[in-house]
Amino acid sequence: MHEPATLHQPKATESPISKNLQKVLANTYGLYLATHNYHWNVEGLHFVSMHKLFSEQYNELFQAIDVIAERIRALDFYALPFEGKEILDTLQKTSNAMNKEADANARAMRMVHNLIEMNDSVIESCQSAKKEGQNSKDDETIDLMVRRITAHQKSIWMLRSIIK
Ligand SMILES: [Fe+2]
Repeated sequence: MHEPATLHQPKATESPISKNLQKVLANTYGLYLATHNYHWNVEGLHFVSMHKLFSEQYNELFQAIDVIAERIRALDFYALPFEGKEILDTLQKTSNAMNKEADANARAMRMVHNLIEMNDSVIESCQSAKKEGQNSKDDETIDLMVRRITAHQKSIWMLRSIIK
């Protein structure tokens, strides 16, 4: 008779790579929420193009969240529920765009500025995760981070082009 299989327990929730990937996940989630919210609320002269661009970006982010979380699971860590701080910071930035400007076009420009800033901070967290990947010779995490950084740099280019 077979011994009952021991229950597989994923590793403790902290390792340099998993910690960094959690941060990438939380930041990407926050950026996703903000981008989707701006898709709904943007107004003004460039409504159609911005509404569409935000749609492309939030859809790309939504898919990325899943890939990042599943990389954490593939490394045998849990994809943690968020502590909330990163998301809260992002949402406060989101409401700034709505509250701080009376003019719709100025609000739209503030949205673009906020998204550029948020994309930049996701890139920063991806760079740290990439560095941890290099320390641990984890090519797959490095590859994922390179792809995420490339996507965010493209988004920043497109957002910047609106406000030129
Ligand atoms: Fe929509």
